[in-house]
Amino acid sequence: MNQHNADMEKDRAAMLRRMGLMLLLAVVGTAAQANEALATKSACMGCHQADKKVVGPSWKDVAAKYADGSKTAEQLASSIRQGSSGKWGAMPMPAQPALSDADALILSKWILGQR
Ligand code: HEC
Repeated sequence: MNQHNADMEKDRAAMLRRMGLMLLLAVVGTAAQANEALATKSACMGCHQADKKVVGPSWKDVAAKYADGSKTAEQLASSIRQGSSGKWGAMPMPAQPALSDADALILSKWILGQR
């Protein structure tokens, strides 16, 4: 192997390592994006934001409130589907009957993880 080929080998190895890392980041990023997309599709983002109170509490505030385990993901999922009132302020959250149980649970786990 001459010097030129050896350099190309090194470049290729470095490139493969970078591609591996990018793939890993893409997979991790996709899971978060899928949840974000589900929240957007389910029209949650019109009233909620990740770290700012809008009409409803921010995801971070919800996660912080139940960080002590006082509400499980299952309980939060049912409060998302059935709507909620009196926990965060005067404004009630309407029930979300179009949201499936499965999607509600995905969203509630995602929200509880936002700290
Ligand atoms: C019309 C505005 C509106 C929409 C749309 C909306 N929310 Fe809410 N949400 C609120 C308000 C207001 C509250 C506070 C209710 C209260 O004080 O109990 C709230 C509360 C919550 C809570 C906290 C419930 C609890 O038990 O403490 C979660 C979690 C939540 N919303 C998730 C969602 C998700 C997920 C969606 C989309 C499927 C969604 N919200 C759509 C307005 C909204």
